[in-house]
Amino acid sequence: MAYNFEFYSPTKVLFGKNAEDEVGRQARAFGAASALIVYGGGSAQRSGLLGKVEAALAAEGIAFQKLGGVVPNPRLDKVYEGIRMGKEHNVNFLLAVGGGSAIDTAKAIAYGLAEPDQDVWELFEHTRMAQKCLPVAAVLTIAAAGSETSKGCVITNQRTGEKRAYDDNLARPKFAVMNPEFTKTLPDYQTESGCVDIMMHTMERYFTNGGSMEITDALAEGLLRTVMKNAVKLHHEPGDYDARAEIMWAGSLAHNDLTGCGNDGGDFMSHKLEHELGGMFDVTHGAGLAAVWPSWARYVYKECLPRFVRYARNVMGISIKGTDEEIAESGIRAMEDFYHSIGMPANLDELGVHPTDEQVEETAERCAAASGSHTGFAKKLSREDIVRIYTNDCKPR
Ligand code: NZQ
Ligand code: ZN
Repeated sequence: MAYNFEFYSPTKVLFGKNAEDEVGRQARAFGAASALIVYGGGSAQRSGLLGKVEAALAAEGIAFQKLGGVVPNPRLDKVYEGIRMGKEHNVNFLLAVGGGSAIDTAKAIAYGLAEPDQDVWELFEHTRMAQKCLPVAAVLTIAAAGSETSKGCVITNQRTGEKRAYDDNLARPKFAVMNPEFTKTLPDYQTESGCVDIMMHTMERYFTNGGSMEITDALAEGLLRTVMKNAVKLHHEPGDYDARAEIMWAGSLAHNDLTGCGNDGGDFMSHKLEHELGGMFDVTHGAGLAAVWPSWARYVYKECLPRFVRYARNVMGISIKGTDEEIAESGIRAMEDFYHSIGMPANLDELGVHPTDEQVEETAERCAAASGSHTGFAKKLSREDIVRIYTNDCKPR
Protein backbone atom coordinates (compact mmCIF):
# COMPACT_ATOMS: atom_id res chain seq x y z
CA MET A 1 0.00 0.00 0.00
CA ALA A 2 1.22 3.51 -0.78
CA TYR A 3 1.81 5.62 2.30
CA ASN A 4 0.94 9.32 2.23
CA PHE A 5 3.93 11.51 1.50
CA GLU A 6 5.14 15.05 1.06
CA PHE A 7 7.71 15.60 -1.68
CA TYR A 8 9.71 18.83 -1.55
CA SER A 9 12.63 19.23 -3.90
CA PRO A 10 12.95 22.97 -4.54
CA THR A 11 16.51 23.06 -5.89
CA LYS A 12 16.93 24.62 -9.33
CA VAL A 13 19.38 22.49 -11.30
CA LEU A 14 21.69 23.83 -14.02
CA PHE A 15 23.23 20.79 -15.62
CA GLY A 16 25.83 20.22 -18.33
CA LYS A 17 28.85 21.70 -20.05
CA ASN A 18 29.59 25.32 -19.06
CA ALA A 19 26.75 25.29 -16.52
CA GLU A 20 29.09 27.15 -14.14
CA ASP A 21 28.77 30.26 -16.34
CA GLU A 22 25.36 30.75 -14.72
CA VAL A 23 26.59 30.94 -11.11
CA GLY A 24 26.70 34.72 -10.80
CA ARG A 25 23.29 35.33 -12.35
CA GLN A 26 21.63 32.64 -10.27
CA ALA A 27 23.24 33.84 -7.05
CA ARG A 28 22.02 37.35 -7.72
CA ALA A 29 18.52 36.08 -8.56
CA PHE A 30 18.41 34.28 -5.21
CA GLY A 31 19.40 37.42 -3.34
CA ALA A 32 23.16 37.12 -2.85
CA ALA A 33 24.80 40.42 -1.93
CA SER A 34 27.67 39.19 0.24
CA ALA A 35 28.61 35.57 -0.36
CA LEU A 36 30.90 33.12 1.42
CA ILE A 37 32.46 30.62 -0.96
CA VAL A 38 33.19 27.35 0.84
CA TYR A 39 35.56 24.81 -0.73
CA GLY A 40 37.88 21.94 0.10
CA GLY A 41 41.53 21.09 -0.07
CA GLY A 42 42.42 22.52 -3.45
CA SER A 43 40.86 20.46 -6.26
CA ALA A 44 38.51 23.31 -7.22
CA GLN A 45 41.44 25.71 -7.40
CA ARG A 46 43.53 23.36 -9.50
CA SER A 47 40.74 22.71 -12.00
CA GLY A 48 40.14 26.45 -12.49
CA LEU A 49 36.53 26.14 -11.33
CA LEU A 50 37.02 28.33 -8.27
CA GLY A 51 38.44 31.13 -10.40
CA LYS A 52 35.49 30.91 -12.75
CA VAL A 53 33.04 31.10 -9.84
CA GLU A 54 34.81 34.13 -8.39
CA ALA A 55 34.74 35.89 -11.76
CA ALA A 56 31.05 35.10 -12.20
CA LEU A 57 30.18 36.59 -8.79
CA ALA A 58 32.33 39.65 -9.42
CA ALA A 59 30.65 40.20 -12.81
CA GLU A 60 27.31 40.46 -10.99
CA GLY A 61 28.71 42.85 -8.38
CA ILE A 62 28.38 40.29 -5.57
CA ALA A 63 30.94 40.73 -2.78
CA PHE A 64 32.50 37.50 -1.58
CA GLN A 65 34.85 35.95 0.96
CA LYS A 66 36.49 32.54 0.65
CA LEU A 67 36.74 29.74 3.17
CA GLY A 68 38.92 26.87 1.96
CA GLY A 69 40.36 23.84 3.69
CA VAL A 70 37.19 21.82 4.27
CA VAL A 71 38.25 18.18 4.71
CA PRO A 72 36.29 14.98 3.92
CA ASN A 73 34.18 14.10 6.98
CA PRO A 74 33.95 17.88 7.47
CA ARG A 75 34.64 19.30 10.89
CA LEU A 76 32.79 21.45 13.32
CA ASP A 77 35.79 23.75 13.84
CA LYS A 78 35.63 24.79 10.18
CA VAL A 79 31.92 25.50 10.61
CA TYR A 80 32.66 27.78 13.58
CA GLU A 81 35.40 29.51 11.55
CA GLY A 82 32.90 30.12 8.75
CA ILE A 83 30.33 31.50 11.18
CA ARG A 84 32.92 33.94 12.56
CA MET A 85 33.83 35.05 9.02
CA GLY A 86 30.20 35.34 8.05
CA LYS A 87 29.40 37.59 11.00
CA GLU A 88 32.40 39.78 10.29
CA HIS A 89 31.49 40.29 6.63
CA ASN A 90 27.69 40.36 6.87
CA VAL A 91 27.42 37.30 4.67
CA ASN A 92 23.89 36.65 3.40
CA PHE A 93 24.53 33.72 1.01
CA LEU A 94 26.55 30.50 1.15
CA LEU A 95 28.07 29.09 -2.03
CA ALA A 96 29.77 25.70 -1.80
CA VAL A 97 32.19 24.63 -4.52
CA GLY A 98 32.93 20.94 -4.08
CA GLY A 99 31.22 17.83 -2.79
CA GLY A 100 29.20 16.77 0.22
CA SER A 101 31.84 18.02 2.63
CA ALA A 102 31.95 21.58 1.27
CA ILE A 103 28.17 21.70 0.85
CA ASP A 104 27.45 20.37 4.35
CA THR A 105 29.92 22.84 5.84
CA ALA A 106 28.14 25.63 3.96
CA LYS A 107 24.76 24.40 5.22
CA ALA A 108 25.97 24.28 8.82
CA ILE A 109 27.44 27.79 8.54
CA ALA A 110 24.13 28.95 7.06
CA TYR A 111 22.25 27.57 10.09
CA GLY A 112 24.78 29.17 12.44
CA LEU A 113 24.55 32.60 10.82
CA ALA A 114 20.75 32.58 10.71
CA GLU A 115 20.57 31.99 14.48
CA PRO A 116 23.80 33.58 15.66
CA ASP A 117 23.09 33.38 19.39
CA GLN A 118 22.76 29.59 19.44
CA ASP A 119 25.39 26.88 19.15
CA VAL A 120 24.92 25.16 15.79
CA TRP A 121 26.15 21.80 17.17
CA GLU A 122 22.90 21.56 19.16
CA LEU A 123 21.14 20.81 15.85
CA PHE A 124 23.38 17.78 15.36
CA GLU A 125 22.79 16.68 18.94
CA HIS A 126 19.07 16.97 18.18
CA THR A 127 18.44 19.10 21.26
CA ARG A 128 16.68 21.76 19.16
CA MET A 129 15.38 22.32 15.63
CA ALA A 130 16.51 25.13 13.32
CA GLN A 131 14.02 27.95 12.84
CA LYS A 132 15.97 29.68 10.06
CA CYS A 133 18.79 29.12 7.61
CA LEU A 134 20.56 31.44 5.17
CA PRO A 135 20.27 30.49 1.48
CA VAL A 136 22.79 27.92 0.25
CA ALA A 137 23.79 26.96 -3.29
CA ALA A 138 26.25 24.43 -4.67
CA VAL A 139 28.65 24.08 -7.57
CA LEU A 140 29.14 20.33 -7.52
CA THR A 141 32.47 18.66 -8.29
CA ILE A 142 31.79 15.06 -7.20
CA ALA A 143 28.70 12.91 -7.67
CA ALA A 144 28.16 11.17 -4.35
CA ALA A 145 26.51 12.59 -1.25
CA GLY A 146 23.52 14.18 -2.98
CA SER A 147 23.75 17.14 -0.62
CA GLU A 148 23.21 19.45 -3.61
CA THR A 149 19.49 18.57 -3.49
CA SER A 150 19.09 16.92 -0.09
CA LYS A 151 17.89 18.17 3.26
CA GLY A 152 20.84 16.44 4.91
CA CYS A 153 23.86 17.97 6.58
CA VAL A 154 26.56 15.80 8.18
CA ILE A 155 29.29 17.24 10.42
CA THR A 156 31.99 15.64 12.56
CA ASN A 157 32.81 16.99 15.98
CA GLN A 158 36.54 16.35 15.91
CA ARG A 159 36.85 16.67 19.69
CA THR A 160 34.48 13.79 20.45
CA GLY A 161 34.79 11.80 17.20
CA GLU A 162 31.01 12.02 16.72
CA LYS A 163 29.80 12.29 13.13
CA ARG A 164 26.20 13.45 13.20
CA ALA A 165 23.47 14.32 10.67
CA TYR A 166 20.83 17.02 10.87
CA ASP A 167 18.04 16.90 8.28
CA ASP A 168 15.87 19.90 7.53
CA ASN A 169 14.23 21.26 4.39
CA LEU A 170 15.43 24.74 5.37
CA ALA A 171 18.90 23.92 4.06
CA ARG A 172 17.97 22.45 0.70
CA PRO A 173 20.11 24.36 -1.79
CA LYS A 174 18.43 27.11 -3.82
CA PHE A 175 20.31 26.06 -6.92
CA ALA A 176 22.90 23.49 -7.94
CA VAL A 177 25.31 23.81 -10.82
CA MET A 178 26.46 20.48 -12.21
CA ASN A 179 28.97 20.19 -15.00
CA PRO A 180 30.10 16.54 -15.29
CA GLU A 181 33.34 17.72 -16.96
CA PHE A 182 34.58 18.91 -13.57
CA THR A 183 34.29 15.43 -12.08
CA LYS A 184 36.91 14.07 -14.52
CA THR A 185 39.75 15.13 -12.21
CA LEU A 186 38.47 12.88 -9.40
CA PRO A 187 40.73 10.09 -8.15
CA ASP A 188 39.18 6.73 -9.18
CA TYR A 189 38.59 5.79 -5.54
CA GLN A 190 36.44 8.89 -5.03
CA THR A 191 34.45 8.28 -8.22
CA GLU A 192 33.77 4.71 -7.12
CA SER A 193 32.96 5.59 -3.53
CA GLY A 194 30.57 8.18 -4.90
CA CYS A 195 28.80 5.55 -7.01
CA VAL A 196 28.33 3.35 -3.93
CA ASP A 197 26.96 6.26 -1.90
CA ILE A 198 24.48 7.13 -4.65
CA MET A 199 23.25 3.54 -4.79
CA MET A 200 23.02 3.36 -1.02
CA HIS A 201 20.78 6.42 -0.85
CA THR A 202 18.29 4.54 -2.99
CA MET A 203 18.87 1.15 -1.35
CA GLU A 204 18.29 2.59 2.13
CA ARG A 205 14.84 3.64 0.92
CA TYR A 206 14.23 0.38 -0.95
CA PHE A 207 14.84 -2.19 1.80
CA THR A 208 11.93 -1.47 4.11
CA ASN A 209 8.82 -3.23 5.27
CA GLY A 210 6.45 -0.29 5.27
CA GLY A 211 4.61 1.03 2.21
CA SER A 212 5.53 0.78 -1.44
CA MET A 213 4.58 2.11 -4.85
CA GLU A 214 5.23 0.55 -8.23
CA ILE A 215 6.40 3.87 -9.69
CA THR A 216 8.86 4.42 -6.82
CA ASP A 217 10.24 0.89 -7.12
CA ALA A 218 10.62 1.24 -10.88
CA LEU A 219 12.50 4.53 -10.51
CA ALA A 220 14.71 3.05 -7.80
CA GLU A 221 15.53 -0.11 -9.73
CA GLY A 222 16.24 1.85 -12.93
CA LEU A 223 18.48 4.23 -11.05
CA LEU A 224 20.42 1.39 -9.43
CA ARG A 225 20.94 -0.46 -12.71
CA THR A 226 22.05 2.75 -14.43
CA VAL A 227 24.56 3.61 -11.72
CA MET A 228 26.01 0.09 -11.74
CA LYS A 229 26.40 0.08 -15.51
CA ASN A 230 28.05 3.49 -15.62
CA ALA A 231 30.21 2.86 -12.54
CA VAL A 232 31.77 -0.09 -14.36
CA LYS A 233 32.24 2.08 -17.46
CA LEU A 234 34.02 4.76 -15.43
CA HIS A 235 36.19 2.17 -13.70
CA HIS A 236 37.61 1.33 -17.13
CA GLU A 237 37.25 4.72 -18.83
CA PRO A 238 37.24 7.55 -16.28
CA GLY A 239 37.04 10.23 -18.97
CA ASP A 240 33.64 9.11 -20.35
CA TYR A 241 31.53 12.29 -20.18
CA ASP A 242 28.19 10.58 -20.74
CA ALA A 243 28.84 8.04 -17.99
CA ARG A 244 29.77 10.89 -15.66
CA ALA A 245 26.59 12.74 -16.59
CA GLU A 246 24.45 9.68 -15.82
CA ILE A 247 26.12 9.22 -12.44
CA MET A 248 25.91 12.90 -11.55
CA TRP A 249 22.20 13.20 -12.21
CA ALA A 250 21.53 9.90 -10.47
CA GLY A 251 23.32 11.29 -7.41
CA SER A 252 20.85 14.14 -7.11
CA LEU A 253 17.79 11.98 -7.75
CA ALA A 254 18.96 9.32 -5.31
CA HIS A 255 18.90 11.68 -2.34
CA ASN A 256 16.23 14.29 -3.07
CA ASP A 257 13.69 11.77 -1.64
CA LEU A 258 12.23 10.82 -5.04
CA THR A 259 13.02 7.14 -4.51
CA GLY A 260 11.31 7.08 -1.11
CA CYS A 261 7.87 8.40 -2.07
CA GLY A 262 5.12 6.19 -0.70
CA ASN A 263 7.19 4.12 1.71
CA ASP A 264 8.22 4.62 5.32
CA GLY A 265 11.16 6.91 4.61
CA GLY A 266 13.82 4.27 4.54
CA ASP A 267 15.97 2.16 6.81
CA PHE A 268 19.23 4.19 6.85
CA MET A 269 21.00 1.92 9.33
CA SER A 270 23.88 1.24 6.93
CA HIS A 271 24.44 5.00 6.89
CA LYS A 272 24.33 5.20 10.66
CA LEU A 273 26.75 2.28 10.96
CA GLU A 274 29.08 4.02 8.50
CA HIS A 275 28.85 7.45 10.10
CA GLU A 276 30.29 6.08 13.33
CA LEU A 277 33.17 4.51 11.40
CA GLY A 278 33.70 7.83 9.63
CA GLY A 279 33.80 9.65 12.96
CA MET A 280 36.23 7.16 14.54
CA PHE A 281 38.42 6.06 11.62
CA ASP A 282 37.97 8.91 9.08
CA VAL A 283 37.07 6.53 6.24
CA THR A 284 35.71 7.64 2.85
CA HIS A 285 31.92 7.59 3.22
CA GLY A 286 31.00 5.51 0.14
CA ALA A 287 33.75 2.96 0.72
CA GLY A 288 32.62 2.65 4.33
CA LEU A 289 29.08 1.97 3.14
CA ALA A 290 30.30 -0.74 0.75
CA ALA A 291 32.15 -2.33 3.67
CA VAL A 292 29.17 -2.47 6.04
CA TRP A 293 26.29 -3.19 3.63
CA PRO A 294 26.89 -6.94 2.98
CA SER A 295 27.13 -7.67 6.70
CA TRP A 296 24.00 -5.60 7.39
CA ALA A 297 22.17 -7.29 4.50
CA ARG A 298 22.97 -10.84 5.67
CA TYR A 299 21.91 -9.91 9.17
CA VAL A 300 18.51 -8.47 8.25
CA TYR A 301 17.35 -10.01 4.97
CA LYS A 302 15.13 -12.72 6.42
CA GLU A 303 12.97 -10.01 7.99
CA CYS A 304 12.64 -8.12 4.73
CA LEU A 305 12.67 -11.08 2.37
CA PRO A 306 10.28 -9.95 -0.40
CA ARG A 307 12.33 -6.80 -0.97
CA PHE A 308 15.62 -8.71 -1.06
CA VAL A 309 14.17 -11.19 -3.57
CA ARG A 310 12.84 -8.38 -5.73
CA TYR A 311 16.20 -6.64 -5.55
CA ALA A 312 18.05 -9.80 -6.55
CA ARG A 313 15.76 -10.32 -9.54
CA ASN A 314 15.22 -6.74 -10.78
CA VAL A 315 18.51 -5.06 -9.94
CA MET A 316 21.18 -7.76 -9.76
CA GLY A 317 19.68 -9.89 -12.55
CA ILE A 318 19.59 -13.12 -10.52
CA SER A 319 17.67 -15.70 -12.53
CA ILE A 320 18.34 -18.91 -10.56
CA LYS A 321 15.52 -21.08 -9.38
CA GLY A 322 15.51 -21.69 -5.64
CA THR A 323 13.98 -20.69 -2.36
CA ASP A 324 13.45 -17.02 -1.62
CA GLU A 325 16.33 -17.17 0.82
CA GLU A 326 18.67 -18.61 -1.80
CA ILE A 327 17.67 -15.92 -4.28
CA ALA A 328 18.16 -13.16 -1.72
CA GLU A 329 21.57 -14.53 -0.73
CA SER A 330 22.60 -14.65 -4.40
CA GLY A 331 21.60 -11.00 -4.72
CA ILE A 332 23.81 -10.06 -1.77
CA ARG A 333 26.74 -12.03 -3.20
CA ALA A 334 26.25 -10.34 -6.58
CA MET A 335 26.41 -6.96 -4.86
CA GLU A 336 29.73 -7.92 -3.25
CA ASP A 337 31.02 -8.98 -6.67
CA PHE A 338 29.92 -5.62 -8.07
CA TYR A 339 31.76 -3.73 -5.32
CA HIS A 340 34.91 -5.72 -6.07
CA SER A 341 34.51 -5.14 -9.81
CA ILE A 342 34.83 -1.38 -9.27
CA GLY A 343 37.62 -1.63 -6.70
CA MET A 344 35.46 -1.15 -3.63
CA PRO A 345 35.69 -3.15 -0.38
CA ALA A 346 32.93 -5.49 0.75
CA ASN A 347 33.89 -5.77 4.44
CA LEU A 348 35.82 -3.84 7.09
CA ASP A 349 38.96 -5.87 6.53
CA GLU A 350 39.06 -4.88 2.88
CA LEU A 351 38.35 -1.28 3.92
CA GLY A 352 41.52 -1.45 6.01
CA VAL A 353 39.69 -0.92 9.30
CA HIS A 354 40.51 -3.40 12.06
CA PRO A 355 38.71 -2.24 15.18
CA THR A 356 39.58 -3.69 18.57
CA ASP A 357 36.78 -5.28 20.61
CA GLU A 358 36.63 -2.10 22.70
CA GLN A 359 36.32 0.05 19.59
CA VAL A 360 33.51 -2.14 18.25
CA GLU A 361 31.66 -1.80 21.55
CA GLU A 362 32.16 1.95 21.65
CA THR A 363 31.16 2.44 18.01
CA ALA A 364 28.04 0.32 18.51
CA GLU A 365 27.16 2.24 21.65
CA ARG A 366 27.47 5.54 19.81
CA CYS A 367 25.51 4.25 16.82
CA ALA A 368 22.65 3.07 19.02
CA ALA A 369 22.65 6.32 21.00
CA ALA A 370 22.74 8.49 17.88
CA SER A 371 19.93 6.47 16.26
CA GLY A 372 17.57 6.91 19.19
CA SER A 373 14.31 5.19 18.35
CA HIS A 374 15.11 5.12 14.59
CA THR A 375 17.10 1.92 14.43
CA GLY A 376 15.91 0.57 11.10
CA PHE A 377 12.80 -0.45 9.19
CA ALA A 378 14.08 -3.54 7.37
CA LYS A 379 14.83 -4.85 10.88
CA LYS A 380 14.94 -2.84 14.05
CA LEU A 381 18.46 -3.18 15.47
CA SER A 382 19.55 -3.34 19.08
CA ARG A 383 23.01 -2.37 20.26
CA GLU A 384 23.92 -6.08 20.28
CA ASP A 385 22.72 -6.44 16.69
CA ILE A 386 24.96 -3.53 15.73
CA VAL A 387 27.97 -5.23 17.33
CA ARG A 388 27.21 -8.39 15.37
CA ILE A 389 26.96 -6.45 12.11
CA TYR A 390 30.27 -4.67 12.73
CA THR A 391 31.90 -8.03 13.43
CA ASN A 392 30.31 -9.57 10.32
CA ASP A 393 28.63 -12.26 12.35
CA CYS A 394 26.61 -13.67 9.45
CA LYS A 395 29.39 -13.90 6.91
CA PRO A 396 29.21 -16.96 4.69
CA ARG A 397 31.49 -19.66 6.14
O1 NZQ B 1 38.87 18.82 -0.85
P1 NZQ B 1 39.14 18.70 -2.31
O2 NZQ B 1 40.50 19.11 -2.71
O3 NZQ B 1 38.06 19.31 -3.14
O4 NZQ B 1 39.14 17.09 -2.59
C1 NZQ B 1 37.98 16.31 -2.47
C2 NZQ B 1 38.02 15.32 -1.31
O5 NZQ B 1 39.33 14.94 -1.04
C3 NZQ B 1 37.90 15.39 -3.65
N1 NZQ B 1 37.26 16.00 -4.80
C4 NZQ B 1 35.99 16.47 -4.90
N2 NZQ B 1 35.76 16.87 -6.15
C5 NZQ B 1 36.90 16.67 -6.85
C6 NZQ B 1 37.87 16.12 -5.99
N3 NZQ B 1 39.12 15.80 -6.40
C7 NZQ B 1 39.42 16.01 -7.67
N4 NZQ B 1 38.54 16.51 -8.58
C8 NZQ B 1 37.27 16.84 -8.21
N5 NZQ B 1 36.40 17.28 -9.11
O6 NZQ B 1 37.12 14.29 -3.22
C9 NZQ B 1 37.29 14.11 -1.83
C10 NZQ B 1 35.93 13.87 -1.21
O7 NZQ B 1 35.14 15.04 -1.22
P2 NZQ B 1 33.82 15.09 -0.33
O8 NZQ B 1 33.19 16.41 -0.50
O9 NZQ B 1 34.17 14.66 1.05
O10 NZQ B 1 32.96 13.93 -1.01
P3 NZQ B 1 31.45 13.51 -0.90
O11 NZQ B 1 30.62 14.29 -1.84
O12 NZQ B 1 31.47 12.06 -0.99
O13 NZQ B 1 30.98 13.97 0.56
C11 NZQ B 1 31.13 13.12 1.66
C12 NZQ B 1 30.53 13.75 2.89
O14 NZQ B 1 29.12 13.94 2.72
C13 NZQ B 1 28.42 13.28 3.78
C14 NZQ B 1 29.33 12.12 4.09
O15 NZQ B 1 29.05 11.53 5.32
C15 NZQ B 1 30.68 12.80 4.07
O16 NZQ B 1 30.91 13.52 5.25
N6 NZQ B 1 27.05 12.95 3.37
C16 NZQ B 1 26.19 13.97 3.24
C17 NZQ B 1 24.87 13.76 2.93
C18 NZQ B 1 23.91 14.88 2.80
N7 NZQ B 1 24.30 16.09 3.15
O17 NZQ B 1 22.75 14.69 2.42
C19 NZQ B 1 24.31 12.42 2.73
C20 NZQ B 1 25.35 11.37 2.57
O18 NZQ B 1 24.80 10.13 2.93
C21 NZQ B 1 26.62 11.58 3.34
O19 NZQ B 1 26.49 11.13 4.67
ZN1 ZN C 1 25.51 8.61 1.89
